[in-house]
Amino acid sequence: MPLYQPTLGTAEMDAVTEVMRSGWLSTGPTTRRFEEEFAAAAHVEDGVAVSNGTAALHLAFLALGVGPGDEVVLPSLSFVSAAAMVTLCGATPVFADVTGPHDLAVDPVDVAARITPRTRAVVAMHYGGHAADLPALARIAERHHVALVEDSAHAPATGSEHGVLGTVGDIGCYSFFATKNLAMGEGGLVVARDAALRDRIRRLRSHALSVSAQERHRGGPSVYDVDSFGLNYRPSELACAIGLAQLHALPARQRRREEIVSRYRELLGDLPGLQIPYATRPVEHAAHHLFPVLLPPTVSRPLFQERLSAAGVQSGVHYPPSHLFTAYRERFGCREGQLPVTEDVTARQLSLPLYADMTDADVDLVVSAARHAWQEVA
Ligand SMILES: Cc1ncc(COP(=O)(O)O)c(C=O)c1O
Repeated sequence: MPLYQPTLGTAEMDAVTEVMRSGWLSTGPTTRRFEEEFAAAAHVEDGVAVSNGTAALHLAFLALGVGPGDEVVLPSLSFVSAAAMVTLCGATPVFADVTGPHDLAVDPVDVAARITPRTRAVVAMHYGGHAADLPALARIAERHHVALVEDSAHAPATGSEHGVLGTVGDIGCYSFFATKNLAMGEGGLVVARDAALRDRIRRLRSHALSVSAQERHRGGPSVYDVDSFGLNYRPSELACAIGLAQLHALPARQRRREEIVSRYRELLGDLPGLQIPYATRPVEHAAHHLFPVLLPPTVSRPLFQERLSAAGVQSGVHYPPSHLFTAYRERFGCREGQLPVTEDVTARQLSLPLYADMTDADVDLVVSAARHAWQEVA
């Protein structure tokens, strides 16, 4: 049982073939359709598709003017790319702790305590597709006149009790990496409430050119101006064609993820000492990108993973805490003990297989392997 597996069918294959027949492979009409349909699914005006989720975050920080001397408050318990993009903008990532074993998103109380006059933005990451406390984080951002960026890599156009994830803050960033719920190999998308910010992101995505390559290809003006310093973060038409097919199938695949998570919760809930974050939240309010569990401190994670692996079940760790990576220790003086809750939960966290194609029998196989492993090592 792999940890993840994308669901790819004839719709994706036909869409790719159609693009190949069209004669235009870089950003073009299929990308535009993907942007429009994703925006409609997320109930926002528009979106800017990009080459990956890291590019989405980079463009968000650049468009907000994050630069040298600025600080951005963000969770350490996340994939490292937001922290890396803040650093590459010349700013300082300020890591905040997470709420607790039941909620692995950044803790608004700790975020508020880390805001300084240098803070330019706060980042919320919807861990595993579960909403961070957006109302509290939005209040903090508003009070301090800083931007709220949602790293919604785990939650594509997902409804939650706080609204559609990625669309509540000033900017939302999505990833469509090969393992994500909406997978296009490599891909991402940015949404921003402010139209001027969105235009700036669109311009920066393609070298800050005043006329796009597609417009020139179609016989538009061949002379262009450049008003700032841009990048090439354009997605390909091939990726967006896959993305459109994945977007159309997303609601049904999300429902299946909810069924799988309900089954896991029911069948694993009685293991003494095993914590299942978010287990008390309604199953339909999340994207369920991951199924995380927390082992008790007495259980060796490597040993438990070894037993699962011997039973043919892959497991993963999401994530090692960013603040303890060598680069962040050396550059920013981060150290152990700085984020006690993050350090506790990241030492005990394990992700079990979760993808829309899992059958009930697959779930039962993982549960049985986990229960056996539990008997041996707990
Ligand atoms: C939480 C989070 N943020 C950002 C990213 C970066 O996205 P990408 O891999 O598309 O660059 C990822 C995933 O890879 C992620 O899981």
